[in-house]
Amino acid sequence: MKTTLSAGVTRLVELPGILSNRNRLFVKMECDNPLSGSHYDRVYLHLISTLQTEGKINPKTHILLENSSGNAALALAVIGKKFGYSVTLVLPPNIPPKKIELCRQLGAEVILSQTQSQYVSGTLPLILGLKGTRRASDGKEYFFLNHSANKRTPDAMAPFAAEIIQDFPSGANLDYFVPALGNGTSSVLPARLLKARFPSMRLIGYESYDAPVVYEMKHPGRFEALFKHPPKFEPHLLFGTSAFGVDFKFLREGLDIIDGIQLVHNNEWAPVQAQLESKFGYRVGPTSAAGVLVTQRISKDVENKNFLSIFYDSSSLY
Ligand SMILES: Cc1ncc(COP(=O)(O)O)c(C=O)c1O
Repeated sequence: MKTTLSAGVTRLVELPGILSNRNRLFVKMECDNPLSGSHYDRVYLHLISTLQTEGKINPKTHILLENSSGNAALALAVIGKKFGYSVTLVLPPNIPPKKIELCRQLGAEVILSQTQSQYVSGTLPLILGLKGTRRASDGKEYFFLNHSANKRTPDAMAPFAAEIIQDFPSGANLDYFVPALGNGTSSVLPARLLKARFPSMRLIGYESYDAPVVYEMKHPGRFEALFKHPPKFEPHLLFGTSAFGVDFKFLREGLDIIDGIQLVHNNEWAPVQAQLESKFGYRVGPTSAAGVLVTQRISKDVENKNFLSIFYDSSSLY
């Protein structure tokens, strides 16, 4: 099927006066992506078109199968449908009910894993049980897109970095890139390209204090030494980050380019979310607000620096 769908070319906006010490904050408005309102529009548009061109998938013969902690699921439900595919999503039960409902309304089959405590890792046995099998009703084959490890995903995110480089104020250096640490799609993948343009840029990722997955990968044992108890790895409210028990290829291979990791508590981001709405009119989800919180923290110790964070999605999806 030919399609004229588009994603990306989102705005880079400055949030004046939100950081101390004459630091400036810019945000990449990925919540403006036109299909499902997140950077995963870029990913699934690219994955589906490329796999079709390669002759690997066809709406007549394949069902697109995926697991996700939220935004990826919604993007695939929207874009898969536009390309004429059946979509099957295996999701952990503890993701925002609104996102699950929207996926169902779009006609995607949603299978919830029963293992609440295992979050995204609980979906894996179900995914692996379906992958490559055929649906009894129509003989279509389940094709696991596996965006978190798909070799085509980096190309999908290259324009994200290129747009930032093009739109960053001329003559200004990008000093701190502060993305959420999910599976690495929006953090380590673009950071490689951003560091090529801004060599002194530091990548400071963030995740939940309740599930410091990448923190433990990068600094084994440091959490316990610092906080005097072992990491908990529990479900949390920074949706899209810290998917414990899943081996995320991009993150594992990109650990060296992460310069620092900040941990955010469940109760910390809500005042920032309210501030973003009252001061700027931006209604963003918890993970986006947490990014701004982290830039505010770092900002206390530096001056005259330029920060970049990401607005991942809108609060209307929660
Ligand atoms: C709300 C939200 N924020 C941030 C992320 C992190 O994105 P990535 O998987 O690109 O690391 C996700 C990923 O699903 C998400 O759903």
